Amino acid sequence: MTTYEHILVTREDRVGVITLNRPKALNALNNALMLEVVAAAQELDADRGIGAILVTGSEKAFAAGADIKEMQAQSYQDVYLSDWFGPWDSLAQVRTPLVAAVSGYALGGGCELAMLCDVLLASETAKFGQPEITLGVIPGIGGSQRLTRAIGKAKAMDLVLTGRTIGAEEADRSGLVSRVLPAEGFLEAAKAVATTIAGMSLPATYAAKEAVNRAFETTLSEGVRFERRTFHATFATDDRTEGMTAFVEKRAPEWRHG
Ligand code: CAA
Repeated sequence: MTTYEHILVTREDRVGVITLNRPKALNALNNALMLEVVAAAQELDADRGIGAILVTGSEKAFAAGADIKEMQAQSYQDVYLSDWFGPWDSLAQVRTPLVAAVSGYALGGGCELAMLCDVLLASETAKFGQPEITLGVIPGIGGSQRLTRAIGKAKAMDLVLTGRTIGAEEADRSGLVSRVLPAEGFLEAAKAVATTIAGMSLPATYAAKEAVNRAFETTLSEGVRFERRTFHATFATDDRTEGMTAFVEKRAPEWRHG
C-alpha cells in the first residue's frame, strides 16, 4: 500500500479507511492532500477486497475547508490553467461506496468532500457550513450544487449567502446527513456502518450506488427505466442466485466478492 504525507490509509477487513491528517491546519484541503485522497480512493476502488471506503478526519475537524493560505497567492490565471479543485471530481467516479464520518468542522471544501461521499455520518459534534462568501469567493467543489440538491434552495441559499454554520441536529433535520451518531464511540460506530455496507454483494452494491446517483442526472422516467434494466441485469450475477437461494435455505449468503 502506498504511503502518503497528508492522509493515513488503513484497511480493516473489507473497509478501506482514509483519515485526513493535517491536524495543525484542521485538515485544510491543500492541493497535495487532494491528490492523495483521490489516489487512495482510486487504489481502494480497484481492489475487490474492499467493499466500502470510510473517509474521516479528527475529532475536532473533518476538514475546515480548502487551504486558504495556499489559495491566497493564486491568480485567476493560476487557478484557471491548473483547473484548481478539478481532481476532486474523480471521487464521483469511484464505484465503491464512500462513507463520510464527520466529527467537528466540515466547512467549505470539507462540507463539499463530505457531500461527495455516498453516506454522510455525523457525530453530534459535527458542524457544517459553506463560509466561502466570507472570503469573497463561492464554493468551488460542488457545494452550490450538491448542497442545493441535498437540502433545497431555501436552506442552501441561507448557508451559502450568510456563511453560517449549522450543527448536526439542523443538518439532520435538513436532509444533509444520513444519520447522527453519539460523539462517544463515533468512529467505531461509523466503521460498523461501513462494515455493513462492505458485507453486501459487491456487484449489487455497485449497481445500487449507480442507480441512486442516476436520480441526480436524469428525468424520473429515464431513471426508473435505468433502475429496471439494472435490476434485470442483477439476475446475471452469481450473487443474485446465492442471495435468493440462501434466503430460501434459511442461511446467510456467501457472496463471491468479484
Ligand atoms: N485553510 C488554511 N488554514 C486553516 C484553515 C483553512 N481553511 N482552517 C483553519 N486553518 C488553520 C488556522 O489558520 C490555524 O493555523 P495557525 O495555527 O498557523 O494560525 C489552525 O488551522 C487552527 O485554526 P484556528 O486557530 O482558526 O482554530 P479555531 O478553533 O479558532 O477556529 C475554525 C476553527 C472556525 C474552523 C477556523 O479555523 C476557520 O474559520 N477556518 C476557515 C474556515 C473556512 O473559511 N473554510 C472555507 C475555506 S474556502 C473553501 O473551502 C473553498 C471551497 O469551496 C472549496
